[in-house]
Amino acid sequence: MPNNAKPVVVYGASGYTGRLICEYLRQYNVPFVAAGRNTGKLKASMEAHVPGIETADYEIVEVAHDVEALTALFSGAAVVCNTVGPFAKHGPEVVEACLATGTHYLDTTGEQDWLITCDEKYGADFAAAGLLLAPSIAQMYTTGEIAAELCLETPGLDTLDIAVFWGGSPTIASTLTILVNAAMSGAYYLEQNRYVPWDPDAGLYQLVIPGQHELALALPWGGTSHPVWYRRDPRVANVKVLGGVFNRPLMMGVPQIVAAAIEATKDLPPDEQYAALTATAAQVMNQMPPRENPRVNKSLDSVHASGPLGRAHCVIHGNSNYQQTGLLQAYAAYSLLQQPPRRVGFASGCQAFGHRELLGVLSSFGLVREPVVTVGS
Ligand SMILES: NC(=O)c1ccc[n+]([C@@H]2O[C@H](COP(=O)([O-])OP(=O)(O)OC[C@H]3O[C@@H](n4cnc5c(N)ncnc54)[C@H](OP(=O)(O)O)[C@@H]3O)[C@@H](O)[C@H]2O)c1
Repeated sequence: MPNNAKPVVVYGASGYTGRLICEYLRQYNVPFVAAGRNTGKLKASMEAHVPGIETADYEIVEVAHDVEALTALFSGAAVVCNTVGPFAKHGPEVVEACLATGTHYLDTTGEQDWLITCDEKYGADFAAAGLLLAPSIAQMYTTGEIAAELCLETPGLDTLDIAVFWGGSPTIASTLTILVNAAMSGAYYLEQNRYVPWDPDAGLYQLVIPGQHELALALPWGGTSHPVWYRRDPRVANVKVLGGVFNRPLMMGVPQIVAAAIEATKDLPPDEQYAALTATAAQVMNQMPPRENPRVNKSLDSVHASGPLGRAHCVIHGNSNYQQTGLLQAYAAYSLLQQPPRRVGFASGCQAFGHRELLGVLSSFGLVREPVVTVGS
C-alpha cells in the first residue's frame, strides 16, 4: 500500500514511545501511519493515549515483521520512525525495507552494538542513496549530545566525560533491551578514537552529579551511543559515558538482575537465550508505566569536556524523558519532510539537524531548562 499521502510511518505505534511520537506528529500537523503488529492494540493505543487524536490525519496499518511486508508499507513514505526494540534483534528488517524504498530511517535505540552495525554495515548504502540513517534520536542520548556539542563550541577540548540520569521506570521493551544488550553484547568507551571495552565486572560506579549532595549510582549502560557518534569526529578522541536512574534501590538491583540473567542463559544458543531473557524481562516489568509527570520524571544530562589547556561543563536539567524522545523523533521527521538533513548516511541527531535547533525544540515544549554552561573552570 503506497503511503504518498502519509509521509511518516511510526512503526511500533502501540508502544509507550511510539504513541508519544504520534502525539507530537499531530502537534506538527504531519500526517502519519501508525503501524505495528496488532490492529486492536494500535487502535486502542491511539484512542486512549494520544491526546487530540481526533484532529490528527492518520491511519492504522497492521504489518508483519519481515522485509517484504515492511517494504510494501514504506513504499511512497519519506521517513520511518522505528520504536520496535531491541533493535539489534528487530532492526535489520526495518533498515533494509527503508533502503529498498528510499526512506529515511530514525529510531530510538540506545544499544551501542546496533549503532555500530548501522555505522559499519548500512551507513555507506544509505549515504549512496542520499538517505539519513539515524538510530538513537532519543533523550538517551541526544540530550547529552546537545550538552556535549555546547561544550565543544569552545575549541581545543578533546575528551568528553558524560553522565545521563532520569527518574521513573523503564517500559516493557526498555527493560528487555537493557537485559538483552547486557547479556549479548559488549560495552565500549572511546580512547584515542578506538573502542575500549568497559570491565563487565566493575559493578556500580559512584558519580558526583550536579544539583544533589548524595552520590549517584551509575553503570556504563551498554556503552551508549556517544562513543560511536564521536569516533570519527576530529575534535574528539576520548568519550566515556555513565548513566542510570535516580532511584538508588532500583540501581542497586540492576547488576544482580543482569548478572543472574546472564548466568542463567549463558550456555544457551542465541534464540533460546533471547527467549529466556524475554521471560526474565517480563518478570521485572510487564506493564506500561503511567504517563510521565514532570515532578517525578526528571532528566539530567551533564558533560565535562576537557583538553590539554581547556575545560567546559554543561548541565541540562529536563523532565519527561520519554516525551523528549517522542518530540525529538517527531521534529526530525517534520524537518526531513521540508529539507534534506545536514548529513546523509549514518548520523546522530545533532549531526543531522543541529544541536542548537534540537535544544530549541526541547526548550520550546518545556522539556528542558536553559543549559548551564561553565567554560574554563
Ligand atoms: N534511548 C532512549 O532514550 C529510549 C527512549 C524510549 C525508548 N527506547 C527504546 O525504544 C524501544 C521501544 O520502547 P517503548 O518504550 O516504546 O516500549 P514498549 O512500550 O514496550 O513498545 C514496544 C513496541 O514494539 C512492538 N514490538 C515488540 N516486539 C515486536 C515484534 N517482535 N514485532 C513487531 N513489533 C514488536 C510492540 O508491539 P505490541 O504493542 O504489539 O506489543 C510495541 O509497539 C525499546 O527498545 C527502548 O529501549 C529508548
